[in-house]
Amino acid sequence: MHSDERVTITPYENGPLIVRGDFEILDADGVPVPPGRKTVALCRCGVSAIKPFCDGTHKLVGFKTGEDQPA
Ligand code: FES
Repeated sequence: MHSDERVTITPYENGPLIVRGDFEILDADGVPVPPGRKTVALCRCGVSAIKPFCDGTHKLVGFKTGEDQPA
């Protein structure tokens, strides 16, 4: 069930996508992935050990946001 709460996705410079609001995350088979909280950081560097969530490893690998991407 979804409320009318707005969902926002904010790209962090050289880091994850921060998702806030009444969202639902599904895996490739459509099975819900429990977010564990109302605000989550989704990995966009590709090296997190807890995908789809960010584990902070982007800092260790020096992930940089490309010029064609926001933030
Ligand atoms: S964006 Fe943080 S580990 Fe990938």
